[in-house]
Amino acid sequence: MIRKILKWTGITVLSLILILAIVVASRQNLQFNAPYPAITASTDSAVIAHGKEIAYGPAHCADCHYAGNADSVFKLGQEPALSGGRVFELPLGNFYVRNITSDPVVGIGRYTDGEIARVLRYGVRPNGTAVIDFMPFHNMSDEDLTAVISFLRTSKPVRNPVPDHSVTMLGRVINAFMIKPVGPTGEVPKSIPRDSTAVYGKYLANSVANCVGCHTNRDMMTGAFIGEPFAGGLKFEEPGIPTLVSPNINPNTPGRIYGWSQQDFINRFKMGKTIPYSHMPWNSFKRMSDNDLKAIYNFLKTLPAATTKK
Ligand code: HEC
Ligand code: HEC
Repeated sequence: MIRKILKWTGITVLSLILILAIVVASRQNLQFNAPYPAITASTDSAVIAHGKEIAYGPAHCADCHYAGNADSVFKLGQEPALSGGRVFELPLGNFYVRNITSDPVVGIGRYTDGEIARVLRYGVRPNGTAVIDFMPFHNMSDEDLTAVISFLRTSKPVRNPVPDHSVTMLGRVINAFMIKPVGPTGEVPKSIPRDSTAVYGKYLANSVANCVGCHTNRDMMTGAFIGEPFAGGLKFEEPGIPTLVSPNINPNTPGRIYGWSQQDFINRFKMGKTIPYSHMPWNSFKRMSDNDLKAIYNFLKTLPAATTKK
């Protein structure tokens, strides 16, 4: 009797695992619908120059889309090619950052402007599947997105093929049931005046440079924000290097930049990276204009005082 029950329980459990495996396998290439933004690359040299400034400055594309040490290339006064290949090793799998040079075989030369714009704004890959939400540019203005894509189109093609992501079993289960594309939080602006006001600073800090994403505490499993905005507390734990915690950058609270003048803030950015293993893309940010840095400072000054004091 007991043996029979055990046998049937075993068969049921095995069948359930099998069904789950089949469902998981069948849900690996889920297709998502998202509009193709009406973005067309421009050949205007001023637009291209602005795109390059964003890509190698506040948006720090090179800090992920370059497999070598971007810092050392920047230090030589050069720009790392955005040829991909860097790998993020996560419990969900190994994710290889893509080649986004203009190469027509392995880079973005394969894609239409709409496909590139859609992956950045709506998190849907050219093949219709959802990206893991690494890139926080969902609310980037039409003008800036146009500039970035215009610049990518003119970048020197690099024929560097990048391996496909290799997803673990856990990653496959999460991919099957939980990964959804992330899109904009509201209506995306057409353009934002590039002055030194808090309005522009808020846009840079939230939608381009991602200060908010690293300087706000988050739930490590879901990525959801759980701390006060810009009050720090996010832990950067990585094997082989000391753990860093992002500091509180609310200037109205006794945190890291309490008492810093606008000029102190600019000067700190011009110094670049001082902690070699810091995750902050200092050497991209170092290239930001004084105007952009003033705008970010002016925005941070408008934050209500946080209760976190570190
Ligand atoms: C924090 C790291 C990070 C930053 C910063 C970043 N990317 Fe990415 N990017 C990735 C990863 C990881 C992928 C692969 C995502 C996936 O397939 O799930 C990717 C994929 C892409 C793709 C899709 C390419 C393809 O073949 O599917 C484009 C286009 C892209 N990035 C453009 C950019 C641009 C332009 C910038 C700067 C404005 C940028 N990225 C900044 C990490 C980053
Ligand atoms: C990828 C994550 C990341 C991003 C994006 C990021 N930071 Fe940081 N930031 C850190 C970490 C980690 C530290 C602590 C290590 C260090 O000082 O380099 C830090 C330190 C700082 C410091 C303290 C520097 C000092 O010398 O005490 C300031 C100020 C700062 N960040 C401001 C900013 C601003 C403004 C932005 C957006 C323009 C930004 N950060 C974007 C991770 C990040």
